[in-house]
Amino acid sequence: MIAIKNLHKSFKKNHVLKGIDVEIRGQGILALLGPNGSGKTTMLKCFLGMVIPDSGEILFQGNNIIGQYVYRQSVGYLPQIAKFPENLTGRELIELMKSIKSGETREDALIDLFDLSSELDKKMSNLSGGNRQKVNITLALMHDSPLIILDEPSAGLDPLSIKKFKDFLRLEKERGKTIIVTTHIMSLAEDLADDILFLLDGQVYFQGSLSRLLELQMEESLENAIAQILDSKKKSPSHERYIEV
Ligand SMILES: Nc1ncnc2c1ncn2[C@@H]1O[C@H](COP(=O)(O)OP(=O)(O)OP(=O)(O)O)[C@@H](O)[C@H]1O
Ligand SMILES: [Mg+2]
Repeated sequence: MIAIKNLHKSFKKNHVLKGIDVEIRGQGILALLGPNGSGKTTMLKCFLGMVIPDSGEILFQGNNIIGQYVYRQSVGYLPQIAKFPENLTGRELIELMKSIKSGETREDALIDLFDLSSELDKKMSNLSGGNRQKVNITLALMHDSPLIILDEPSAGLDPLSIKKFKDFLRLEKERGKTIIVTTHIMSLAEDLADDILFLLDGQVYFQGSLSRLLELQMEESLENAIAQILDSKKKSPSHERYIEV
């Protein structure tokens, strides 16, 4: 479905993506992990055309998407930091989104899921952080897109909302969706992900199944496996890369 080949991006002297190679073949949930600043959001923004890469190729369903835009109709995207007009209400934003993007929508299911209806007539600026995030998630998922990209979706959500959201994503996966989710909550990745893509210093350190990563690091939890990678990197900055396809 997605192939990224030798992707490079620098912001001035900051070489952020240093030859990313990634292949995402089909449906399922991919957890995109990596420390702060490792390039996760930048890689996702390159895929979405919001950041222009310096070199490399990005293919979606076999077509090169650099400079294209129609493919974005197939993507539901939750940005890490959503910037919507603060003076609009959630309901107005939902209507705005519906007028911008064509296709069937299912906002009612998401409003029910998050018990959000009483919050939708408040201006975005007046919402609590978690309720804002629920509106953002609703905006990202209300179109039934085959590809869903979620950059830190759990930020600010209470435990019950996280549980309901995980159940929703599992159902989406069963319906054949491809879901890419970044998170720093290792339990979320463990609960949801079929595969892990771990970025380190702008390169792919690992791509493969969770069980393979645990086996390689000889750990039983993802948290320990990741901590061990980061710890060994501190001691010896050059690192081997493990890519299992
Ligand atoms: N628009 C920009 N202009 C300049 N530098 C940028 C810009 N966007 C990102 N960067 C830099 O690129 C690097 C990678 O940032 P990115 O947001 O991709 O990291 P991340 O892996 O998503 O981190 P986090 O876990 O904190 O979300 C950082 O050094 C950041 O400062
Ligand atoms: Mg990020």
